[in-house]
Amino acid sequence: MVVKCKDLVKIYHAAEDFRALDGVSVHVAKGEFVSIMGPSGCGKSTLLNTLGLLDEPDRGEYFLNGIPTAKMTDNLRSKTRRENIGFIFQSFNLMPKLSVLENIALPMRYTDTPRQDILPRAGTGRPRGVGK
Ligand SMILES: Nc1ncnc2c1ncn2[C@@H]1O[C@H](COP(=O)(O)OP(=O)(O)O)[C@@H](O)[C@H]1O
Ligand SMILES: [Mg+2]
Repeated sequence: MVVKCKDLVKIYHAAEDFRALDGVSVHVAKGEFVSIMGPSGCGKSTLLNTLGLLDEPDRGEYFLNGIPTAKMTDNLRSKTRRENIGFIFQSFNLMPKLSVLENIALPMRYTDTPRQDILPRAGTGRPRGVGK
């Protein structure tokens, strides 16, 4: 199981406390594609930030590739994120001169991944970027 989380709770402390995640449990297996859908404000970004190790839940367990993330140091969280997780945003934080595939592959250029393996690992198995 790549992603395994149980009873995630995330409370934002603004003017009033807001429970953005209220006991979320998700399993994602290797090779599985999963979409998260819901109305604006329902907690999709909060869940993705948590699964992407950008934010921490207040309660619950999250195992990434079988490894518990709760007690990871910031450095280990960064390393784990760099080696395992890619974020592609809808319309910002993208490099305009790169193709879609090259944008997806970009974080791997900051790892030890051999150069010739980067684009195939990013998606299609073809050596050239999408749209070229
Ligand atoms: N940093 C924050 N501080 C306070 N409330 C927040 C914060 N981030 C998100 N929220 C609130 O948590 C809820 C879930 O937000 P979010 O995860 O961004 O939803 P979605 O991505 O599904 O639109 C929303 O009601 C939002 O206003
Ligand atoms: Mg969102």
